[in-house]
Amino acid sequence: MPLRIEPLDRSHRPLLADFQNPCPGLVDYLRRYALRHAEKDLLARTYVAIDSGTGMPRLAGYFSLTTVSVERGSLAPLPDLNRLPRFPIPGILLARLAVDTRIRGQGLGRYLFEEALGLTLQLAQNGPVAFRLFVTDALDAEAQSFYAHFGCAPLSEGFPCRMVLDLRPLLWGQTEPDTRTAAGGSDDSSIQPIG
Ligand SMILES: CC(C)(COP(=O)(O)OP(=O)(O)OC[C@H]1O[C@@H](n2cnc3c(N)ncnc32)[C@H](O)[C@@H]1OP(=O)(O)O)[C@@H](O)C(=O)NCCC(=O)NCCS
Repeated sequence: MPLRIEPLDRSHRPLLADFQNPCPGLVDYLRRYALRHAEKDLLARTYVAIDSGTGMPRLAGYFSLTTVSVERGSLAPLPDLNRLPRFPIPGILLARLAVDTRIRGQGLGRYLFEEALGLTLQLAQNGPVAFRLFVTDALDAEAQSFYAHFGCAPLSEGFPCRMVLDLRPLLWGQTEPDTRTAAGGSDDSSIQPIG
């Protein structure tokens, strides 16, 4: 499937009405709010996967990213984060992710998840701000199981269920960055593949 990922803009408007997904909230968000939130309200940026292989371009899936701050106390289930100071921990929130019903089960969900995580890791590694977590809110058991498949850990029971992925091991491997000298640093600064 020839796909390209693009930030949602006005040129995609004609494609929005055809998007199908079993979660009405995810369809409604894409059709009514995603563009406004990206361009006017500055609340979240949405990325769309455009399938141009069938002649007419089709919006095959999307995800939305924004920022988040996670209560430090809620991170207790993740022992690796126990040494962090007791204030809210910053992260990027994968606020929404959906694949068109007609092409579910063909790998696009993984592609979109990895694209969202890849953008997040780029920002964490090269951007002007620091943050520690990749966060998502699973709407139901199926979504929780999807995100768990990619290593996200649940912070609570019940739904929506906040789930987190610690970015540090993905950025530095398991190697502690050497901060003792200005020139110091881990040789292994490459982003590790997930899966
Ligand atoms: C969840 C959703 C995004 C998955 O998209 P998809 O294109 O069907 O998923 P993929 O085909 O890319 O599957 C990717 C991987 O996740 C696995 N997977 C898919 N759904 C899963 C689930 N419910 N539980 C566990 N694993 C799941 C697949 O087996 C596959 O594994 P592999 O790559 O290791 O072989 C899609 O089904 C969807 O839009 N669901 C409704 C909306 C939703 O729940 N969004 C997420 C929460 S907001």
